[in-house]
Amino acid sequence: MSRFLAGPFAPVDEEVTAFDLPVTGRVPGELAGRYLRIGPNALGVEDPAAHHWMSGPGMVHGVRIRDGRAEWYRNRWVRSEQVRGLLGEPSGGAACEIGIDFACNTHVIGHGGRTLALMEDWACPQELTAELDTVGPYALGGVRPGFTMGAHTKLDPLTGELHGLAYLSGRRTARHLVVDGAGRLVHEAEIPLDGNPMMHDFALTERWVVVYDSPVVFSPEAMSTGARTPYTRDPRRPSRVGVLPRAGGGVRWFEAPDAFVSHTLNAYDDGERVVLELVTLPADFDIAAMRMSRYGTLDRWTVDLSAGTVCEQRLDDRPQEFPRIADTVVSRPHRYGYTAATAAMYQAYVPAGDGPLPDEAFVNALIKHDTVRGTSEVHTFERDAAAGEAVFVPAAGGRAEDDGYVMGYVHDPRRGAADLVILAAQDFTAEPIARIHLPRRVPLGLHGSWLPDR
Ligand SMILES: [Fe+2]
Repeated sequence: MSRFLAGPFAPVDEEVTAFDLPVTGRVPGELAGRYLRIGPNALGVEDPAAHHWMSGPGMVHGVRIRDGRAEWYRNRWVRSEQVRGLLGEPSGGAACEIGIDFACNTHVIGHGGRTLALMEDWACPQELTAELDTVGPYALGGVRPGFTMGAHTKLDPLTGELHGLAYLSGRRTARHLVVDGAGRLVHEAEIPLDGNPMMHDFALTERWVVVYDSPVVFSPEAMSTGARTPYTRDPRRPSRVGVLPRAGGGVRWFEAPDAFVSHTLNAYDDGERVVLELVTLPADFDIAAMRMSRYGTLDRWTVDLSAGTVCEQRLDDRPQEFPRIADTVVSRPHRYGYTAATAAMYQAYVPAGDGPLPDEAFVNALIKHDTVRGTSEVHTFERDAAAGEAVFVPAAGGRAEDDGYVMGYVHDPRRGAADLVILAAQDFTAEPIARIHLPRRVPLGLHGSWLPDR
């Protein structure tokens, strides 16, 4: 059986609704909104041995918080027509006019009052209700084939514009898209590509859009290997970054370190340099086998636009993923970043992961990075906890960049269920302010958001 159907990754098999969740500690009264996180949750697996983690339909896990209470927990599969069929439900009726009808499993965001599940490539964004039921396909930027926005969008905190990168397997172009708060397309730019690289994330600064041309490529032949993913590693393909003006214009390519960029922490302009802080995987990342020689590290790549070079600096060589910053500093200089270190992730991906971890003390932890001072604080959870991505939520009226909360799902091995853990970002290693006890396990998932009430 695939390792992604077992242990912390094992899917859950039913949808649950629970009200008035028990809490250890105190839920800050100023928090009003929903914390949502999505991930693949397999359904109707035909061949458990060959199951690929990323191929599972998305399931959203959400907690609603208001007036110091955790009002509800819900988990819901995103409904594609296939998911509806597997669940024995009638057709949803609405056809996806811009891409493929797949139950998006990678990110869930709020934009313009809507809750949207996202995935890259041709997957059509899907709108969810406030209570996580699927409304149907939603075409950010209008109904035009291929305008799928990708999995990782960037919301400019000053303009309120949402930037996305649409890349489409089988097409030798990507597209930078910008939509306003009402979901209207306000800018688009074509990015010619040499081949069909996987472009999971990108970066945004005040002046530039930065895209990653990776050694992982779309390959229909890969599907025939039983890998169940259309992407495969091309060891001959060099790693590049492309820089194009936000307002439009041609892309300029730079030779990049030999690595696969999995996620951007943030990016910003520094005169004629573009600073990218990101999590990279080694160039031998084999997405079909879901194996690599080491796990993700936190790095800084500095693109010198005058010299035409990219300099690499390792900020933290401990295995970690899921970098997040305060949404208020996206595309501008930042100081703090937050990542997750998860033993189960490391053990699932790295061949030697069945053996001792690189640092036994550094597992199942959330990390707060001070990228200006070059220091970090580690909030360690118990053995067999599984800390996933954590998001930063600003305190009401907070002025400092880290004045707020860090929240995410962490497995509690004593209960066999997940907690939504809320840390004080400025007292990061202290006991959590609150542990909201969910009634069940939440499988290790991908990305999510805090969606405040408006
Ligand atoms: Fe991602």
